[in-house]
Amino acid sequence: MVASRRVAACILMAGAAAADYRCSPVLNDTLRTRLSLRSCEHLLASRCGFQNTLVEAPGSCAATDSDMPPPATSFFPGTKASELGCIARSSTFGRALWCLARGVNTAMELFTGVGGGSTLLLAHALSAHRPGRRGAPRSFFTVERHLGNAYHAQNVLESVGIPAQVLSLARPGGLTSSMAALVKEQPGVWILHGDVFENLGVFEALCGAIGGLDLVMLDPPLDMRNVWPLLEAACKPKFLAVHNANLPGHAGWLPAHLRRQPGNRWYEMMNGSHPSVWERGVRSWSLMGQCW
Ligand SMILES: *[C@@H]1O[C@H](CO)[C@@H](O)[C@H](O)[C@H]1NC(C)=O
Ligand SMILES: *[C@@H]1O[C@H](CO)[C@@H](O)[C@H](O)[C@H]1NC(C)=O
Repeated sequence: MVASRRVAACILMAGAAAADYRCSPVLNDTLRTRLSLRSCEHLLASRCGFQNTLVEAPGSCAATDSDMPPPATSFFPGTKASELGCIARSSTFGRALWCLARGVNTAMELFTGVGGGSTLLLAHALSAHRPGRRGAPRSFFTVERHLGNAYHAQNVLESVGIPAQVLSLARPGGLTSSMAALVKEQPGVWILHGDVFENLGVFEALCGAIGGLDLVMLDPPLDMRNVWPLLEAACKPKFLAVHNANLPGHAGWLPAHLRRQPGNRWYEMMNGSHPSVWERGVRSWSLMGQCW
C-alpha cells in the first residue's frame, strides 16, 4: 500500500517534471527531469525484483494495477512474449519507458510488431484513468504494417482493459482529412495499420490534426533516415526513445545525431542495455529529451 502510494507520488513528479520542463542555462531542470525519471524507474524496479531482462521470472513482479504495468504478453500459441523479443516491465528500459509515457499526453511508436511489449507498456501508461495535465486528451498511436500483428496488438490491449482501434492508413497522405478529424475527436489508443514508408504524409496529417507529439518511440528494422526529418518537422517530439540502439541499420544513430545539433537542444536522460534474447550480447537503448 505504502509502496504503491510512493510509486504514484513519484510518477506524478515525473509527469510534472516532464510537462513543466524548460531549458535553463545551468541545466537544473534537465537534472530534475533525469532524476525523477530515474526515481520512478527505481521504484518500479523495487516492485519487480530489480531484474533487467526481457524474460520475466514468474512471481517476481507485483500485480498489475494502474501504477504497475502488465507483463509482456503473446497470444500466439506456444510462444512466449520474451521469445518474440517483447520489451518487458522486467527490464529497466520497459520501466523507464512506462515512467516517461506516464508524464506525457501524446506518443507514437514505430513499430508495433506483435504489440505485447513496448506497445502494451506505452498504452497502459497513456490510458491511465485520469486525464492528462490540465484535462488535455491523452492519445497513443502505434504503426504496424502487418494486419495480423495489428489485430494481435488490439487483442493484447483489450485483454487488460485498454480499448484500441485499428485504422488503416490511406495513400498517399497517410490519413484523409476525415480520418485526421476522427483521431482528434476520439483521443485514445490507435493502431495505425499500413506502411509508413509508402505513406510518408502520415506525420503531417496526424500532427497537423492533434498538434504534435510529446514522445516518439523507435524500434524500427531500418535506419529511418528518410523518415525522421519528416517526423521531427511535423510532430516536434519532446522526448525520444530508441531501442536496439547498438544494431547497425536501426535507429541508434539518432541519439548521437541529435546531441550534436546546433544549440544543444537534445540531451540524453537515460541509457542502458539488457541481454538479447536473439544472440549473445546485449541490446542497448537511449531516452532523449528536448529542451523547449
Ligand atoms: C540550480 O541549483 C542550484 C543548487 O540546487 C542553485 O544554487 C542554483 O541557484 C540553481 N540555478 C537556477 C538557475 O535555478
Ligand atoms: C550512457 O550514459 C552515461 C551516463 O550519463 C554516459 O556516461 C554514457 O556515455 C552513455 N552511453 C552512451 C552509449 O551514450
